[in-house]
Amino acid sequence: MAHTIVIFGASGDLTSRKLVPAIYELHRKGRLPKESRIVGFSRTPYAHDQWRDRLRQSTAQFVADAFDQSAWDAFAPSVFYHPGDIENGEDFVSLSRFLDELEGPAGAARIYYLSTAPRFYEPAIAELGKAGMAQQSAGVRRIVIEKPFGVDLVSARELNEVVHQVFDEAQVYRIDHYLGKETVQNVLVLRFANTIFEPIWNRNYVDHVQITAAEEVTIGHRAGYYDTAGLLRDMFQNHLLQLLTLTAMEAPARFEADAVRDEKVKILRAIRPMRPEDVAANTLRGQYRKYRDEPNVVPGSYTPTFGVVKLNVDNWRWQGVPFYLRSGKAMSCRTTQIVIQFREPPHMMFPEGARNIQEANRLVLQIQPAEGVQLHFLTKVPDAGMQLRLTDLDFRFRQKFAAGIPDSYQRLLLDVIHGDASLFARSDEVELAWGIVDPIQAAWDHPGPPELALYEEGGWGPPTSNEWMQRQGRRWFDTCPVL
Ligand code: BG6
Repeated sequence: MAHTIVIFGASGDLTSRKLVPAIYELHRKGRLPKESRIVGFSRTPYAHDQWRDRLRQSTAQFVADAFDQSAWDAFAPSVFYHPGDIENGEDFVSLSRFLDELEGPAGAARIYYLSTAPRFYEPAIAELGKAGMAQQSAGVRRIVIEKPFGVDLVSARELNEVVHQVFDEAQVYRIDHYLGKETVQNVLVLRFANTIFEPIWNRNYVDHVQITAAEEVTIGHRAGYYDTAGLLRDMFQNHLLQLLTLTAMEAPARFEADAVRDEKVKILRAIRPMRPEDVAANTLRGQYRKYRDEPNVVPGSYTPTFGVVKLNVDNWRWQGVPFYLRSGKAMSCRTTQIVIQFREPPHMMFPEGARNIQEANRLVLQIQPAEGVQLHFLTKVPDAGMQLRLTDLDFRFRQKFAAGIPDSYQRLLLDVIHGDASLFARSDEVELAWGIVDPIQAAWDHPGPPELALYEEGGWGPPTSNEWMQRQGRRWFDTCPVL
């Protein structure tokens, strides 16, 4: 079946940086269905060839060594451009006509990709509906919606309603690019394709879980968006909660979209809602010192660039096991990791053993940038009496597999083409995630506890973060990727 991927917001950054490079790579690897086309739609009036030239340059830049001129030459004729305004119904009628002509009488499966500013999601969906472009009588029609999906529960519900007036839920693919990361998917494989981890993956053996997404970058030129959105909406509602659900969920019977998402939803439902009075005790917020000097940051901005949220999953498996979610910009290094911290042995017969949690077993799932898994365990130091030391066992993806790790968008776009929504957020999942984040955001919208602590760039957030964790009787696993 022929496929047409229509990109709304075609002249934007995401299209040139991620989407087109990913589609080009799929083409180069021979993964796209025969007769696949891209059609760009945005207001800038490009001719087809002008847009192709621009994309050639940006793709060469973003795929770097994987760029192959002859592969591009074979790909470029399937790239088209149709200028138009999302807020103008007539432009959708003319787009629809253009697509019909391009696809010919045989038609094609269509994927509409909303890569626009979020305020255009609703008008784009409504116009697609009015132009009859969502109807599946002429072929499959799917819609991909980028994050952010709403800014809180109310707006996410409204957006879901607008979406469902035009598309069935089965046609909708809400992207969280973290789910396209190979190592994120490997969390499921590690847990459910092996027998040795599951028996200990629970409150009997696990003391707590740390999920950290640290970034070295500062906000830079992104403050126009970030200063209003803030950290919870940018990283927690989506990426960090997704990592939590994959770590905590039960094994679905099959790797199928609804089976997987049902289990994730059960975890989100089991997360103890944060009451306003809990926020001060269970969260931390910080801002890097120079944040207020960044362009477009509102003077005196209270927007956090670092945060910690402690969540409890109230079910049999996880009762009493806190999940510490942490993210920050301007940190020591870029690292995303899930740390499963196991309990100390119940009794230590050696004089120097795991007598505190810092020396107990730990499984580090390194999501990026050095993808792999590290198991920490105690060993005997040779020729030193009965001295013990915490050592590790490493698995590195790059060492074991010759094929490089592809960008998330390749996997996700291919899944949309094949109609597999397992790695996409369902409407109830998105709404539940907002329900978890909203009460924290409501408290953070005002000055007061937890106080916004300033921190130096290049570290692990404000000093209060370590002090707070110490009061929890625990310590952060502050390690830049060791793999
Ligand atoms: C995006 C956020 O969704 O994820 C950014 O908007 C963040 O603020 C980015 O930098 C992190 O993605 P990755 O894949 O680099 O970890």
